[in-house]
Amino acid sequence: MLFFISYYWAVTRLSRNKDFVIMTTLGVNIDHIANVRQARKTVEPDPVQFAFLAELGGADSITVHLREDRRHIQDRDVFLLKETIKTQLNLEMAATEEMLEIAKKLLPDYVTLVPEKREEVTTEGGLDVKSNIQYLKNFVENLKDSNIKVSAFIDPVGDQINYSREIGFDIIELHTGKYAQLTGYEQHKELQRIIESSYEASDLGLVVNAGHGLNYNNVKKIASINNMNELNIGHSIVARALAVGLEKSVREMKSLITLI
Ligand code: PXP
Repeated sequence: MLFFISYYWAVTRLSRNKDFVIMTTLGVNIDHIANVRQARKTVEPDPVQFAFLAELGGADSITVHLREDRRHIQDRDVFLLKETIKTQLNLEMAATEEMLEIAKKLLPDYVTLVPEKREEVTTEGGLDVKSNIQYLKNFVENLKDSNIKVSAFIDPVGDQINYSREIGFDIIELHTGKYAQLTGYEQHKELQRIIESSYEASDLGLVVNAGHGLNYNNVKKIASINNMNELNIGHSIVARALAVGLEKSVREMKSLITLI
């Protein structure tokens, strides 16, 4: 019974007539192409060439994470992407002085600040903006002075949203990793948390993106959230590309998120 009541609540919330309904766009994360290249430390496959295919398939932006240990994307990739892509470049990075210098030279369309740990396989949790307010304020201001929009990759938690606003972020990217891992009622509750967070954030004037762990089976409910601006998706798209090619795997994902 509880399940049906909260399902009804979520459906009405999803279709709530907000002041605006925006078309959700697709950011394609191509780090995994670079993972294959770095497995042999050679020149192929080249993520720069694959970005071109992602754009042909309908990607609205290209996302790359330049990690401190350079385990996949390299400096050369980000500078070539900046020169060659026709959509937008989203540079994911840790809030370090080294990355700040690179971002200010590169001038991507936007930067997404993420937490980074050397041992992790992929970005694990959201950035804890609450514990680093003054440092992040200066960091974000520095990027904005170079006309770069700045996004915070955060967990869907009220506090993190309020502090993101206070710090001066333009965008938040809500971490959907937990939603992707859960099933049944627990997943449904996490979806509600994401929906509530997205409304809280847009009420504060923040642009709302989401990503992590999204795939062809779980993406539609996130894409249906009225004020969802962009979804950043990597692993599932690149995995499917092994079977059907990147252009097609991007096109399939794009149609799932736009044909709601
Ligand atoms: N968004 C952020 C901030 C990430 O760190 C990642 C993983 O690199 C993604 C989105 C994409 O996640 P996935 O590869 O699981 O689709």
